[in-house]
Amino acid sequence: MLKRTDYCGELRAGHEGREVVLTGWVQRVRDIGQLVFVDVRDREGLAQVVFHADRHDLMEEAKRLRPEFVVGIGGTVRRRAAVNPDMPTGEVEVEASDLRVFAAAKVPPFVISDPPQASEELRLKYRYLDLRRPRMQRNIRLRHEAALVVRNYMSRNGFLEIETPILANPTPEGARDFLVPSRFHKGRFYALPQSPQQFKQTLMVSGFDRYFQIVRCFRDEALRADRQLEFTQIDIETSFIDRDDFFALNEGLMEALFALIGRRVERPFPRLPYSESMERFGTDKPDLRPPFEIRDLTAVAGETGSEPLRAALAAGGEIKGLLVPGAGSLSRGQLDKLGEKARELGAKGLAWIRRQGGWKSSLKMSDADLERIWGALGGAEVDLALLIADRKETALKALGEMRRTWPLEDPSRRDLLKFCWVTDFPLFEWSEEEKRFVSMHHPFTSPVEDDVPLLDTDPGKARAKAYDMVLNGVELGGGSIRIHDRTLQRRVFGALGLTEEETEGKFGYFLDALGYGAPPHGGIAFGFDRLVMFLAGEESIREVIPFPKTTGALDLMTGSPSNVGEDQLTELGLKLKK
Ligand code: AMO
Repeated sequence: MLKRTDYCGELRAGHEGREVVLTGWVQRVRDIGQLVFVDVRDREGLAQVVFHADRHDLMEEAKRLRPEFVVGIGGTVRRRAAVNPDMPTGEVEVEASDLRVFAAAKVPPFVISDPPQASEELRLKYRYLDLRRPRMQRNIRLRHEAALVVRNYMSRNGFLEIETPILANPTPEGARDFLVPSRFHKGRFYALPQSPQQFKQTLMVSGFDRYFQIVRCFRDEALRADRQLEFTQIDIETSFIDRDDFFALNEGLMEALFALIGRRVERPFPRLPYSESMERFGTDKPDLRPPFEIRDLTAVAGETGSEPLRAALAAGGEIKGLLVPGAGSLSRGQLDKLGEKARELGAKGLAWIRRQGGWKSSLKMSDADLERIWGALGGAEVDLALLIADRKETALKALGEMRRTWPLEDPSRRDLLKFCWVTDFPLFEWSEEEKRFVSMHHPFTSPVEDDVPLLDTDPGKARAKAYDMVLNGVELGGGSIRIHDRTLQRRVFGALGLTEEETEGKFGYFLDALGYGAPPHGGIAFGFDRLVMFLAGEESIREVIPFPKTTGALDLMTGSPSNVGEDQLTELGLKLKK
């Protein structure tokens, strides 16, 4: 039996002369007559093995190797005649004296190399092969290292990792639940947790004081690049919480995580109240990398003689502007495209002004008026001003989206890590679909003290003690200071339109627990997959999850979800509707 002495990817010049045994998968075979070169891959990387003609039998055997065969190779480490600077092991090779084929392999449906040479569909169908790629091996390892950093950091700060049930009751996080039928109690269902929210709050009532958990959550919602049906949270809760200390703790966690990839994180993170974030960036997930923001031009536009602008104002609209640095030379065609985009985003239209080579604008305005608006935006000769006159929300949303998607030409700006906290969210938002207020985060979020009376008079105006952590326009995590007073919790359920009966049925135990001495508490949960995606420099969380689902909610490798037999359904007391 050949017993591994070293990983392929770990061989270095210092190993010269050493007898080693490598195990792994054949990457490629090059037969150049007197010599056969075989690259062998394991999780640490590639090593080159050379078979000489003086060991004729062995060389003949090596010639029969094919990509993805599993082999064991014994030999001596030698310095290479021609160093390969692109390979970490490129200074050495192994002169083979022994070869064992542990397994042959069929011709794989794609070559195992980076970047991937197959569609994502094919990659996911043969995920076990795709995961052999060095990049995937690196991503999955990074995930492990990130989890270790989290565990060590939280533990160092006095947090205990505590598990909470997967078979539970529905959790109100705003997505649909996955239900699991109970065999013991036919007609009743467990729900997979959308988050451990109530359990972690209950743990605070139980006195655990500082809890965290790296935990799987389940949400039946539309999938995208940064969303999966099941995903992992770093879930955190703490009692007797001071918000500033808590922010610092979480910023420290980010610092520790990004140190894994050698990146420094600037602290403290800026804080933006929700309303300011909306005004300046048109979104509650602001990307602070683009060096320009939305400006309010309502007042100055009113002073101009422009008919369309005045008409928009008279109709109760507002005028918002975006000054894009250096974009003054866009062609008419490009400007028309931007106009189209603004309309797709719901705005009635988009006006532009530029100054390069004399005033030009889609608005018919005197030079003096153009100068006024330009002055309010602080424009330079080479810039481009974009204006939207519309309902305030529409104008902000459209300009916010144009800002967010504006190509960041400067790579050093693209690579920045711009964290921020968004705070003071509205407590509720109006759901047209349900014709009632729904929680913007979840119903356990505490209202701002001053706004508690609004619960009865104008709930839509009440602010919450909620906060999100945002990185480069992506929501990494969200949390809040909770309600720990039973009466207030009841009032919030009431404002959400829940009847006494529904409240009892859904949250009875929880309200009861709050009655037995609940400490002031709060917490947060981060999307662990999203964090690892950033660390790995990937564009999709599917690249950092070993076995993800497609955006069509399928596991292409195992074929799940799958049908179940009549027997199993009967056992569960279920009958499928035809
Ligand atoms: P929230 O719903 O904001 O808060 O979720 C916290 C973080 O989890 C990540 N996330 C997801 N990641 C991948 N796929 C998904 N489908 C998905 N949904 C959410 C996001 C998000 O910021 N219980 C509260 C936390 C609290 O109040 O403490 C909660 O779950 O990065």
